[in-house]
Order: sequence, then C-alpha cells, then structure tokens
Amino acid sequence: MNLAQQLRDFLESVEQPCTRKVEKAIQTTGCTLERIAPFIKGPGDRLKYGRNVILRSDLFEGLVINLPGGVATPVHDHGESMGCVYVISGAFINRLYMVEENSSKVMPFSESRVDKGESLFIERGVIHSMYNPGKERMISLHVYFPPLSGNRIYPSEVVESF
Ligand SMILES: [Fe+2]
Repeated sequence: MNLAQQLRDFLESVEQPCTRKVEKAIQTTGCTLERIAPFIKGPGDRLKYGRNVILRSDLFEGLVINLPGGVATPVHDHGESMGCVYVISGAFINRLYMVEENSSKVMPFSESRVDKGESLFIERGVIHSMYNPGKERMISLHVYFPPLSGNRIYPSEVVESF
C-alpha cells in the first residue's frame, strides 16, 4: 500500500483528532524519504517551493512540502485548521509572527529549529513561515484538520535573521 493510502487509513481510525493523535498516525505510517519520494513535487512557476496535496477527506488534508535551501514560505495562517508537520529530510526554522496592533502588518517574535524526525504542532491561530537555512532541500509531511480553508498569506519583509 502506498504512503498516502496508508496514512488515510490510519487517520480514518482517529477519533476526535488532536495534534498528538495525528502525530502518532504519521509516525505509525512510517514516512521514510523513500516512501514519500513519489509524492515530492519540485518548485513551480508560482511557488519557490514544492507543495503537493496527497490526501483530502471531510476531516483531514495531507500535503508534502519540498522547501529548497535558502527558501522561505510566505507568512501564513491555517484558517480554522490545526495540524502536525513532520520533517522527513533536512530541517527548517519555524518563525512565529503576530499581527501588529491597529495594523495589518505582522512582526516576527520567535523562531525555533525543527529537525529531521521531529514534529511541529500547529495550533489554531498560529501565524508562521518556514525557512530552510541549509543547502539541502527540506521535505515535510503536513496533516491538517479540518482540511485547509480560508487560510491567509500576510505581507511581510523578508527577514533572514532577527
Ligand atoms: Fe503553515
């Protein structure tokens, strides 16, 4: 069974999903680089990174991100969704942002590194970006619940470090 089908099966057995249960489902699936390889997409014309939705049900959305070295995603939220990001190869810097009072601008306030084999939990309302500080690509599997809807991108200056 391929990775996307197996992940879908494990997720279907999760009752009352929370980030830890979703992390467990991802880990149980056995997400090796070899198994996820058929689902990795390259950066396209519109995006500087690869983004491939590998499953979408009424309850869950799963996608694979391919973030090349030196590239950051836009600053974004996840609508009403929560989720779990599991790093399969490489590492990224998770930058957290807050919306400035009386403004639509966002300001970074924290950053942390997420390495291969580690998970990042996305709680509701989180605004963040993912930055790959290395030379090698970063590959991660993301599972959101409910499926992403109404997620927003925020204008921000590119910040290499702060
Ligand atoms: Fe995100």
